[in-house]
Order: sequence, then structure tokens, then C-alpha cells
Amino acid sequence: MDYLKIKGTKALGGTIDISGAKNASLPLIAMTILAKNKVNISNLPHVVDIKTLLKLLANLGAHCTFLDDKTIVDTSSITNTKATYDIVKTMRASILVLGPILARFGHCEVSLPGGCAIGQRPIDLHLKALEQMGARIEIRAGYIEATAPNGLQGGEIIFDKITVTGTANVVMAAALAHGETTIINAAREPEVVQLCEVLQNSGIEIEGIGTAVLKIQGTAGELIDIKDFSIIPDRIEAGTYLCAGAITKSTLTLTNVEAKHLGAVLAKLEEMGNSFTITDTTITIHPAKIIKPVRIVTQEYPAFPTDMQAQFMALATQADGVSIIEEKLFENRFMHVSELQRMGADITLNGHTATVNGVTQLSGTDVMATDLRASSALVLAGLIAEGETNVHRIYHLDRGYDALEKKLQEVGADIQRLKE
Ligand code: EPZ
Repeated sequence: MDYLKIKGTKALGGTIDISGAKNASLPLIAMTILAKNKVNISNLPHVVDIKTLLKLLANLGAHCTFLDDKTIVDTSSITNTKATYDIVKTMRASILVLGPILARFGHCEVSLPGGCAIGQRPIDLHLKALEQMGARIEIRAGYIEATAPNGLQGGEIIFDKITVTGTANVVMAAALAHGETTIINAAREPEVVQLCEVLQNSGIEIEGIGTAVLKIQGTAGELIDIKDFSIIPDRIEAGTYLCAGAITKSTLTLTNVEAKHLGAVLAKLEEMGNSFTITDTTITIHPAKIIKPVRIVTQEYPAFPTDMQAQFMALATQADGVSIIEEKLFENRFMHVSELQRMGADITLNGHTATVNGVTQLSGTDVMATDLRASSALVLAGLIAEGETNVHRIYHLDRGYDALEKKLQEVGADIQRLKE
């Protein structure tokens, strides 16, 4: 297994290019199951989760062609409608193929995703919505067995909780359903917005894009001629590198980034004393000389994203004062805390709330990544810790960050990828 060796306390400087968004790519790749044509996708990030989903599609019978500037996905040859445990267990977002396969073929078997480090991650809301659209769903031997022999029917879906992939699943199912589907309490994340926009550009009538109420006119089973598209920038990758600039007190410029997707993150970084120069495609961070403490509550978009919680926890260890971070979406998303404490961070947990006593000089040591965003928090801590930090189990990191160590090396970080 690989690990990252980081020598801390080096100032950084320069430009980092942001890759395509993992969490936009996943539903958009699943969406190709609805296409009558070969779909051209550009700006896909080179991360493991994307490779995993493309492998799942290939297992179903789809063909993917990788060119320098785009990936061509042809799902016309899909014959198999079973997403098996061996793949689904490695990536829960595989559940995103359920809606499209069911809508197109009238039957689908998807392995239940199983547990996840950050929380139980149920999919009850996905299943309830599809049943409301006429699907018959049974759970048998660890698999979801869904059938809709006469196709899915449009209807009114009210989500008890806002669910990002749940909304994406229902949007894709509704696109091929009979009649109109209204989704109430829909997720508004930019990744869901792009899915809706690509479908709309391909002829699907969708109202309310970017709002909590979506109205989708289905094609009654007619496949869609999906127009070419380019994946939006990854706002969480961008937020992570902004935190790298803030924690090392370095001026960094991010390119190919969409600042409007980072409103809550930029606002919190400003509260902590940082300032920014922003253009249509770039963000430059001008770091605080003294990092101010902050109060964060994670919520659905456009509020502060849970996927940035761990990174801000690392940053808060360097703030001049006490920060309070409350995690409201997932029940177990504080596993980076014990690793940060081993580096000397002064953090107290009380249920879903972390109290971070700042201005501790962290010390490098061996730490273990536990999940995707926790991994990046440990890298950020390593950048400012005295001595060497070795971040182990970075297969978690590779799921969602495209060439992280190369991007940090290019702005001066002393970070290497080595073999255990
Ligand atoms: C998406 O996960 C993201 N993943 C996650 O990013 C992100 O943390 C999460 O949204 C929240 O923003 C992808 O987009 C691939 P949810 P998702 O359904 O869709 C509960 C990363 O780091 N819930 O919005 O699985 C659930 O338990 C990953 O890139 C139900 O109760 O999250 C959670 O408490 C981690 N029943 C809340 O809703 C359901 O059927 C939000 O979950 C579905 C969800």
C-alpha cells in the first residue's frame, strides 16, 4: 500500500489547477444508461471512484473509450442489469445506477452498499421514491431487486430528508418515466444542478433546477440523445486547497474553479481572517496572518458542506482561540479527530460537536486515513506539523483527489508518495 510522507512547516506558493468534480461525475456517468447515443464526457477527474463506476458499467455490458480530451461512454450494448456486491461494496455511490437501469430495462438488481466509515448511510429514501413511481422493490440476500415491467410512473415525491444521490436517482428515473414527476425537498448541490442541466440540454423538460422543487416531464421510456458535456470543477477539492493556503499562510491561486459553488466555504475562510481575489475561473487566497477561530455547522447546500468539515478542523487547530464544529449530516464523521490529537491537536468531542482549542504546534507522526475527507485533513495538518508526517491508508484519498501530492509538490510542499 502507498503512503504519503510530508515534511512540514514549508510555505507554499503558486497555482493549482482544479479537476472535474467527483460527485458530479458519478451521477452523470450513471445517466449515460438513459442514452440512445454514445455520450462524450470531458473533464472527468482521474480518481478511483470514477474508474470503479466505469468498471461497473463495463460489467453491465457498456463500452468506454478513453481519449486525451474526453471519455466516450456507449451503453447501447448493456445486457446485464445486476450490479454485484464485489463492486458496490467498494463504492456506495454505485446505487446511482438503480434509477437509470430500472427506468430503461424495467428490472434491476443492485447489491446493498453495506456499511460506511462515516455513517450508516441508508438508502431507504431512494427506494421509497422509486416505489412511489410504481416500482416493486424487494430486498433478497443482500440485493435490492427492483421491477417496473410497465415502466415507471411520474408522481409527487416528497423527500423526508434532503438526499444528494437520492435526488439524482429520482431525477434520472423520472426522465424516462410516464408523465410528470415533482420532487419536493430536492437536493440543490451544484452536482445535482449539473445533472439536471445536462438532461435539460438533451431535451428533457425540467423546471426548478437549483431549487428544492423539481418538475420533470418523462419520455415514457424513450431513450435520450445526450449532448456532450464537461464536468464542473470540484468544489471540495478547491476548498481543500484553499485550506492548504490558509493553514500554511501561503498565497495560492486556484484555476478552473467556480467560486459561486464555494459561497459558504469562502465566507468561513473570510471569518477566519483570509481574503480572496476572484475571477470567473480563478480564486487567489491571501492568507490571514493570525487565524481567527470559527463556528461551523454542516448542512445541505448552499450552507456549509459536510465534505469540508474535516479540513476546517485541521485549520482550526491553528486558530488563535476556540472553534466549535458541529457535524449534522453524518453520525460518525469525526474519525480524523483522534489522528489529529495524536499530532498534538487539542480537540474535545461531545456528541456531534467538536471544540477545537487552537494555536497548537502540531508534531509530525504516523497517522492513518479513515475516510476520504479525513485523509485530506491529515495532509493539511502534515503541511504545518514539525517534522515528518506519514499518512497511511491513502487508498481513501485516491478515491476523490486527482494527483493531490503532485499538485502540492508543484506549489512547493515537501510531500512524497512511497510504498509501505
Ligand atoms: C453525497 O452522499 C456525497 N456523495 C457525499 O460526499 C456527501 O457527503 C453527501 O452527499 C452530503 O452532502 C456523492 O455525491 C457521491 P445524502 P449521499 O444521501 O448522497 C441520510 C464525499 O466525501 N439519508 O445526501 O450518500 C444520510 O444518512 C462524499 O465525496 C437517509 O437517511 O448523501 C445522511 O445523514 C462523502 N436515507 C443524509 O441523509 C437515504 O435514503 C444526507 O445523505 C439517503 C440519505
